[in-house]
Amino acid sequence: MTRHFISLLDLSPDELNGLLDRADALKKEVRAGRYSTALQGKTLALMFDKSSTRTRVSFETGMNQLGGGSLFLSPNDAQIGRGEPIEDTARVLSRMVDIVAIRTGPHENIIRFAEHSGIPVINALTDFNHPCQLLADIMTVREHLGGIEGKQVAYIGDGNNMCHSWMIASRQFGFSLRIATPGGYRPESDLMDACSDCVILSDSPHDAVSGVDVVVTDTWISMGQEEEKQRRMKDFEGYTVDAAMMKEAADNAIFLHCLPAYRGYEVTEDVIEGPQSVVWDEAENRLHAQKALIEFLLEI
Ligand code: CP
Ligand code: NVA
Repeated sequence: MTRHFISLLDLSPDELNGLLDRADALKKEVRAGRYSTALQGKTLALMFDKSSTRTRVSFETGMNQLGGGSLFLSPNDAQIGRGEPIEDTARVLSRMVDIVAIRTGPHENIIRFAEHSGIPVINALTDFNHPCQLLADIMTVREHLGGIEGKQVAYIGDGNNMCHSWMIASRQFGFSLRIATPGGYRPESDLMDACSDCVILSDSPHDAVSGVDVVVTDTWISMGQEEEKQRRMKDFEGYTVDAAMMKEAADNAIFLHCLPAYRGYEVTEDVIEGPQSVVWDEAENRLHAQKALIEFLLEI
């Protein structure tokens, strides 16, 4: 049966932890200059209709390191940009490449693609969630804090795709998550209900961060929301993760951000560049975690 990775719920908790163990091993191999050729002859297609630095580079580099190849398709290059149906594109790519990663706005697009795909489909970000990022994020927490189970995490900012991903992760990895967003920017209520065992909404960012092990934020203006910038800047006042907020977290708390970051808005310069920030490890871990994901989905 073809397995997809559209949400963290597509893998069991055991599978997710095993995948991160493998990512740790792959990271050590790269550090030692050892590369496997397990994916020789295999091709990953990247179909992205939004911008990307980390996701594209980590997938393309990961495929190269594993002995395979990749190709990048933007809507400007591919017929899907001129109206070829998603369903037709899925069936054609399934006859030519081995695995596909899709970055798109409507989550529905990736579901439709997967329904017609004979090859594994990876969600490389939709407006609903960003599960690949969470593989790297949890890998980073494990590295710095020795584990994620039972930890306390605060998510401060927009109830967006990253917030949703942290919510789903709290269920799958067994940690508690406090979310603080301005009114009108709460995460989806259906997902809140589904995650109510692990997730609570806090009244203020200061309450949310009190004593936590991990502080997370994301941009206030996601891709596609550029026209809302002025309104969002006002609505998110008081939600900047700054040194005073980090002081309220546990002494050894770490700061995560999926990047790109906008200094002076969702996070201050001194926090993202400070000793508690692990954002560069987090970015690097996209590479290792996604290599493990590709191996898992291709059953290598
Ligand atoms: N964090 C992340 O997905 O970054 P990119 O948008 O650069 O891929
Ligand atoms: N919430 C951001 C994440 C970018 C990686 C966005 O969707 O633009």
